[in-house]
Amino acid sequence: MTFLNLHELESLAQKRLETGAFGYIRSGAEDEIALHENRAAFERIKLMPRMLVDVSEVDTSTQVLGHELSMPVMLAPVAFQTLAHPDGELASARAAAQADTLFAASTLSSHPLEAIAGASDGSKWFQLYCSRDKVLTHELIARAEAAGFEAICVTADIPVAARRETDERNRFSLPPACLPGNLKRHRALDDLTTSDQGSALVRLIGDMFDPSLSWRDVEALRARTKLPFLVKGILAPEDATRAIDHGIDGVVVSNHGGRQLDCAPATIDALPAIAEAVDGRIAVLLDSGIRRGSDVVKAVALGAQAVLIGRPMMWGLAIDGQQGVSRVLEMLREEIARTLGLIGCPSLRDLDPSHVLPSPPR
Ligand code: FNR
Ligand code: LAC
Repeated sequence: MTFLNLHELESLAQKRLETGAFGYIRSGAEDEIALHENRAAFERIKLMPRMLVDVSEVDTSTQVLGHELSMPVMLAPVAFQTLAHPDGELASARAAAQADTLFAASTLSSHPLEAIAGASDGSKWFQLYCSRDKVLTHELIARAEAAGFEAICVTADIPVAARRETDERNRFSLPPACLPGNLKRHRALDDLTTSDQGSALVRLIGDMFDPSLSWRDVEALRARTKLPFLVKGILAPEDATRAIDHGIDGVVVSNHGGRQLDCAPATIDALPAIAEAVDGRIAVLLDSGIRRGSDVVKAVALGAQAVLIGRPMMWGLAIDGQQGVSRVLEMLREEIARTLGLIGCPSLRDLDPSHVLPSPPR
């Protein structure tokens, strides 16, 4: 199946997926303003090309928290990947390893974290949703560490469930084969397969996620592991510096792909102030709306070490499992290299805010 770009891939994936699954993956919160704005903000930013620079060799490699990556694109933690393909997370983890990049497994993965760890020998991170049941949260950290995950990433931007009206309209529920494989004993799982009242996911979040989670709790969780520890969902520079004060090793600038606070800023607009506040002390990553290699170049120029992709991975899975995800990663790699060539910047390491217009506010 051919696609020229990741926008076309979404239309192809739509033909392969059930209405409920496609709607769940594609949609954002409420009026989908943040979902739209993530793209619009990337489109507003221009790259200033420089001429007559030797770009016969272009280097897209980078380093993130000690990992050598072939390019600054990793796979975001995305729940329930068997909605898109029966191999789900196993296939995406293999595609990440093949591309020499990182895979992040969600707490809500369909396949259990131990199976994902064994699916490839590539490096993987574990994304943590903190449960009201503290024992469960602690067990997840210990299991991830024992299975060989190389960092823990706490997602902070679901203190409460957002309203995703597409899921309510579709009465979205999960087929039993897609249930979270890490949570076999959780009482809320039965809720996920029934769709008599609105979105099943909203009920899971209400039952399971801890709305009282605070920086103090995150610091205590951080102390339970020697692994690097990141917080995902940061948009305010004050929160990025707070993360440093609480011993965190990296932040992911994210609005959850426009799926949580609908009037959140676009992440590429939030990035410059965060990069300035962090000033190289910890890792800064970004996601939400990355669809082109030029988006990646803009994010790196404005201070991100790397970006994560969510939906494009799911579209790749839907059309062709592991091979589909590999093609998504390969397409982004080619677009990054081509963009670096066109702007006269042979190495990603030489990107800085001077490559971007308008200049970010100081
Ligand atoms: C997500 N995201 C997400 N984040 C997280 O920390 N844990 C999770 O389980 C999930 N689950 C999830 C499911 C689906 C279907 C989507 C689309 C997203 C958010 C994800 O990690 C990432 O922040 C966004 O997907 C980035 O935006 P793009 O690349 O999808 O535009
Ligand atoms: C989502 C949750 C599960 O965005 O992170 O659907």
